[in-house]
Order: sequence, then C-alpha cells, then structure tokens
Amino acid sequence: MFRKDVYIDRRNRLKDKMKSGLVLFLGNQESAFNYPDNTYHFRQDSSFLYFFGLDMPNIAGLIDFESGKEYLFGNDFTIDDIIWMGPQPKIKELAAQVGIENTEPINHLGNYLRNANNQERIIHVLPFYRGDTIIQFSNLLEISHTEAENYISVDLIKAVIEMRSIKDKHEVEELIKAAAIGYKMHVTSMKMAKPGILEQEIAGALEGIASSYGSALSFPIILSQNGETLHNHYHGNILEEGRLLLTDTGAETNLHYASDNTRTFPVGGKFSQKQKDIYNIVLNGINHGTSLIKPGVTYLSVHLEVAKILAKGLIDLGLMKGNPEDAVREGAHAMFMPHGLGHMMGLDVHDMENLGEDYVGYDNEIRRSTQFGLRGLRLGRKLQPGFVLTNEPGIYFIPDLVKKWKAEKINSSFINYDKVLDEYSGFGGIRLEDDILVTETGHQLIGKRIPITIEEVEETMRS
Ligand code: GLY
Ligand code: MN
Repeated sequence: MFRKDVYIDRRNRLKDKMKSGLVLFLGNQESAFNYPDNTYHFRQDSSFLYFFGLDMPNIAGLIDFESGKEYLFGNDFTIDDIIWMGPQPKIKELAAQVGIENTEPINHLGNYLRNANNQERIIHVLPFYRGDTIIQFSNLLEISHTEAENYISVDLIKAVIEMRSIKDKHEVEELIKAAAIGYKMHVTSMKMAKPGILEQEIAGALEGIASSYGSALSFPIILSQNGETLHNHYHGNILEEGRLLLTDTGAETNLHYASDNTRTFPVGGKFSQKQKDIYNIVLNGINHGTSLIKPGVTYLSVHLEVAKILAKGLIDLGLMKGNPEDAVREGAHAMFMPHGLGHMMGLDVHDMENLGEDYVGYDNEIRRSTQFGLRGLRLGRKLQPGFVLTNEPGIYFIPDLVKKWKAEKINSSFINYDKVLDEYSGFGGIRLEDDILVTETGHQLIGKRIPITIEEVEETMRS
C-alpha cells in the first residue's frame, strides 16, 4: 500500500469534485471457478484500490459528500477464518492504515444505504462489471437488478476518470516496477523461442515470472505463432524454425499497477528479409508514434500519423498502392491493422475500461469514429501530462479478412489483394508495444526498453 496520506488526499479531491449525496465503492468478492472454496486469484476492484488501498474481499468504502464522513464496512476475522487463512488486522486497524476513522460491520451497510435511499439522498456508484456485485448491491438496497443500474453515476464516473487518468509520482514508480517484470518476461520469451518447444511452455514460464516478482499477469498471455489473430490465447502449437512468434504480455505489481508490452521475433533467432521488411515498417511506426506524444496532441492524430507510416511502407513493398494520405483517410490500411494504436494504462491494463471506454478515451472535442479499424481506437482525446498509454501498432495478414475485402472490392484502389494472398498468407502478424508516460514537455518510456531493433532482438535471442 502507499502511505495513508495518498488515500486521504485522493478521497479529499473526490469530495471537492462531488457536492451531493454519497458514494459507495464495493470491494470485489472472491469468485469461485468450480466449487465455492476453489476460487480464482482474488483481484480487488481498481477504483476501490485507488481510494481505499485495501486488497481483500468483503469490504466496502463509503464517503458521505455532505457530512464529509468516510466509512469502512467490513468484519473482523472470526477464529474459523483465522484457522484457515491466518490472523488479519482488525477492521479498525485496516481502516487506520488508509486514514479512515469510522468502521461498521458489513451487515450494517444495507440499513445505511436504505436509510439514505428513503431520505432521497443520491447514492453514486460506478458501473458494475461482475454479476455478484450487481446482486450484492441490489440485495443491500432491496431493489431489482435492473433498478440497480439507475444508481450508476455519470458525475462520479467523470470525476474518477479525471483523477485516475493523471498518474502521480508514486504511481509512475509502480508502473516502472511493472515494466521491469515485463522486461524479464519478454527477454525470457525471446530466449526460449527455439524450434520444437510448445508455445505453452513459454507462456507458463512467463506467468511464473509475473507471479514471482509481482501479483500476477495484468491480462491473460497472448503468445502465438499465429499472431495475426489479435488476442490469441491458444498456446498449443509447436514452434517451427523461421515462423514469427508474437508475445503480448505484462505483469501487475503487488499494488496492481500494470505493464503491457508486445514483441514479435523469429523462432530460432534469425529474421528473414521478408520478415525484416514488414518488421521495420512497424518499428518505424512505433518510433514515429512515440516521437509525437506530448501534451495537447490528440491520440487520434498520433494513430493517423502512424497509420500513414504503415501505409507508406506497404505501398513501397507493393502490397498497397496510391498515396498514404488518401489510403488512411479511406481506412484502407486497416485491413493490415484493424485495431487502435493504444489505450490508457494504470491500475488496469486497459485503464478504467469498466467505467466506459468513451468516457476514458473521448470527449466533446474528439468523438469515436465509426470507420472499420479506427472505431477500435480506445484513446483518441487530447493528451495531458501524467497520462500513461500504450503505443502498439501492428501489421497482420488475416487471410479471411483479405478474402472478404477482395470479394467485396473494399478499398480495391489501395490494395494489391493478389500479392497479399499469394505471397503473405501464413506470414502471421507483427505487433510492437511500448508503454509511455506523457510528461510536461513530451514523453518518457516507462522502464527500460525491451530489445526492439532487429539487431537487439537477434542478439538477445543468441545470448
Ligand atoms: N495487451 C492486450 C491489449 O492491449 O489489448
Ligand atoms: Mn495493449
């Protein structure tokens, strides 16, 4: 946990933004995977962690914006709990660790909320993303699940996003720790990528690194020779000499700050010329994208500039035609990169995505596009100092998508479909991903850069 003043300060700033009613932050519950006592790895809710810091199930935090009072609801461990799970500080002691004076048993929460409801006070909650939280909230207020949705507060969503979007120095330190774990994971993946081993052997080793240095993975590992499938979680293939292996992975620190990086490299350690040609386009794209990151620039414009670099490279190779500006305006490059350039990162790998992607990544000035590819851009709005985001361009050869575009003559004036299908089916996909902090004057890479040039990658794989 951070020092208690960090949490006191965050709650005070939230109180300054929210004038009326009260806010309830329900911590997460344990979640069973095949029987009640066999639970998934516990993950606390990120906004709960942000304001209350405590990393355990069955607690709730409440702030009354009118009286200014703050409460922690939870129960002390019984002797049965202690027998199975060991001793725990009392709720009073836990509350004191994060600067809260008032504590109540968890079974007082329902009464407290129903009283507030009966007095027609506003109860603000963030959007629900787990079924059991909706059930818990509905039971507390004795309302239906549908009625529970009425308590989701846009004012609260906006206030929380405004705060969590700007990472303070404590958070940046944690993100750098997460990056150091991610670095070890990626270098291990490069060194293990030898012909004949199973993808899952590497995936298992990476998961072990994440757990041994931090809390866990920040998302399920994407690791595949079929990297053209953007989120490929199947790890059953045997590595074959010369194929590309895409590894997209990251870790959470013990405080749950994330890393998220992608590297793509050839099994056996030597890029072919054909692979180098595509790889260097993506590398130019990521480097150019990072060079543009600074306060006041929209991430939409960075996405589009990177798209032009990709289109220009693909035109030079004869896979696309026409000029890059027109191709990108029409969205033709999106057949090769059907996703956005990046997303916010912090306590969640896609930071605050549960609060609503458009609230996090867009505003009144920059609206989400409906164009294929561009509509997948999670962050489009103007950058501010303190934002942490990913820069993750890619070029993918997705045979079903190419065949569909060819059959429907989509952007046919910009794409040489026959060359793509004849020469690049089975190529796979290349994605490169770095995590970037927006500073007062520009940008800073989070942590040490994972080997990325052809020479650095081949050298790492050799050593
Ligand atoms: N690293 C996975 C993603 O950004 O979607
Ligand atoms: Mn990412």
